[in-house]
Amino acid sequence: MEISHAHQEINITPALQARIDELLSHYPADKKKSALLPVLHEVQDAHDNWLSIGLQDKVAEILEIKPIEVYEVVSFYTMYNQKPIGKFMFEFCRTSCCALRGAEDLMEYTCNKLGVKEGETTPDGLFTVVGVECLGACGYAPMLQVGDFYKEHLTTAKVDALIDDCRAGKVDLHKLTITE
Ligand code: FES
Repeated sequence: MEISHAHQEINITPALQARIDELLSHYPADKKKSALLPVLHEVQDAHDNWLSIGLQDKVAEILEIKPIEVYEVVSFYTMYNQKPIGKFMFEFCRTSCCALRGAEDLMEYTCNKLGVKEGETTPDGLFTVVGVECLGACGYAPMLQVGDFYKEHLTTAKVDALIDDCRAGKVDLHKLTITE
């Protein structure tokens, strides 16, 4: 994803700071960088699931490291978002096993149904569709991830049902569930 210059309110709440402090407690005081990945997850979760440059700078300040050390991590991993995304980000695996079992067609079906291109977000801010590399569930191909949730052995009917469930507020983004 490209870098966004959209405004983002930075709000390190006492609860978020307490969570960061807890993560930092697992590492020596002079090795705060070791907590970078989990801290980024916590900070991203608390900021509408994306990390502006300003927020990345804030993380660098908290961990007492250089901003570039945060940028290089955020830009490497697709699990960190560098621009605003929809509430539900459908991450379609399109590596070998999923590709052989129709991942591209399913992603195209989803994009057409939602009226977006890959990487775009629906105007209501609910859905973003992206293609990603192998998510480690090759035996259940084709599959997608939304939040911490895997949807597997995908069909167009399952995509339809998932979209309906998201719209109905039935999808818990932080419940890791392996489903048929
Ligand atoms: S190839 Fe799709 S999960 Fe591995």
